[in-house]
Amino acid sequence: MSSGIVHDVVVNPNIIEMEYAVRGAIPQRAAELKKEGRKIIFCNIGNPQALGQRPISYYRQILSLIEDPGLISRERQLRKAIASSVRDASLMMKDDVLDKAEFILQKMESGMGAYTESRGPAFIREAIAHFIDTRDEVTSEEGVYANPDHIFLTNGASDAVKSVLEMLIAGPNDGIMIPIPQYPLYSATIKKYGGVQVNYYPDEDSGWSLERRALDESIQAARQQGVNVKAIVVINPGNPTGAIIDERSQREVISFAHENNLAIIADEVYQENVYDGRFVSFAKMLGRAPVPLFSLHSVSKGFYGECGHRGGYLEVRNAPNIKGTSANFIDILVKQASVSLCSNTVGQVLTYLMVTPPAPGSVSAASFAREKQQILDDLYHKAETIKEAFTRMEGIHCFGRIGALYLFPRMDRLPANTTDFDYCMQLLDTTGLCTVNGLGFGQKPGTHHLRIAFLPPAEMLQEVLPQWIEFHNRYVNS
Ligand SMILES: Cc1ncc(COP(=O)(O)O)c(C=O)c1O
Repeated sequence: MSSGIVHDVVVNPNIIEMEYAVRGAIPQRAAELKKEGRKIIFCNIGNPQALGQRPISYYRQILSLIEDPGLISRERQLRKAIASSVRDASLMMKDDVLDKAEFILQKMESGMGAYTESRGPAFIREAIAHFIDTRDEVTSEEGVYANPDHIFLTNGASDAVKSVLEMLIAGPNDGIMIPIPQYPLYSATIKKYGGVQVNYYPDEDSGWSLERRALDESIQAARQQGVNVKAIVVINPGNPTGAIIDERSQREVISFAHENNLAIIADEVYQENVYDGRFVSFAKMLGRAPVPLFSLHSVSKGFYGECGHRGGYLEVRNAPNIKGTSANFIDILVKQASVSLCSNTVGQVLTYLMVTPPAPGSVSAASFAREKQQILDDLYHKAETIKEAFTRMEGIHCFGRIGALYLFPRMDRLPANTTDFDYCMQLLDTTGLCTVNGLGFGQKPGTHHLRIAFLPPAEMLQEVLPQWIEFHNRYVNS
């Protein structure tokens, strides 16, 4: 029988030290306030549907059909039986929705409840490769075609980041360059796997552009400390900055990586959130340059916002061979994927839907395009509204084009002996607005920022922004 004494246990200290500000002290305080009955606007995380964004109907109808395949034939029979008496066709599932669900089910072979191939079903990887080639305008003369065998379906991009970093960090001196500020998944994962975080600093005042000098300084400083730098992470569009990396900066990163034998980890989960321009992928910019590239995409962001369904993919180019073995990086990634059996099938199907939207002219094309455009327009409009409010706050500057789901303004006039953490806590207490302070993402020493996700409904923003402006101008002059 147990003596009732619970023994202490030693756990991985890296996990204890790991930090993740997006769900840190400020959101925790917000949750407490909410429990006490306060109205809280959660802008601390890019979780669109938590703030009322409606899922795309086309996706959800197909998901419901494939989860309960009997619905497909029932829907078809029902259609025939009552078509003449139902006047409103929008009450019924569209033909192309039923067809697509049927097609997916047939391709999934063993249905949604079975494990799939570890990398993910081949038809989905082929569709992803086609999506990448179309997006990047690859032709037999220009660019490099994506290889479906070098694509892995993942439980969101987070999973992909973990598996790549787990492989690259082979010892305590292995370093990964990350932009500062960064999305803390990177700092946390580097910490977890016992590697060295090597910071580099995009230039805020020029819209977060990347200068070669900043990259060189960062790698030289790391090497002087004995760090073996293995890869550089780029987040485009950026989180937390929302900034879009220009093509000149992309070229700088590629030549820097090439000259220093680094792999590039291109986090492109916000590729649909480029509101006033065109997204250019690192795969496209890389062309035939022999630099290992790990590109990530996800169903969590864009206009889909399906964070909870955990879908995404990792695409690998120029996969390196593994030193001292006859194996290639892809072989080991396959082995790693097989240990987890497979990513979840709903996420896989959503990823498939993300890369195969309704064909132009098809029955669902117009309603799909309408829903998509409405979401993207709303997001951009909300970002502009918040940016405009910043112009009425003393000492606030927000650099770069609008991208991703965030604004990351710099606060140049905080009262003496206060930090951006104090500011965000006070902002939360006064207005109910939950943001994350800049330190949670890393920032140049001596600067102060906050990140706000521009996701709350417009009416909520209209209500809270005047309160924020008033709070801000009082706070910085206190
Ligand atoms: C830059 C970036 N990468 C990856 C992720 C994780 O996305 P997923 O939900 O696909 O794991 C996020 C989530 O906010 C993110 O902002």
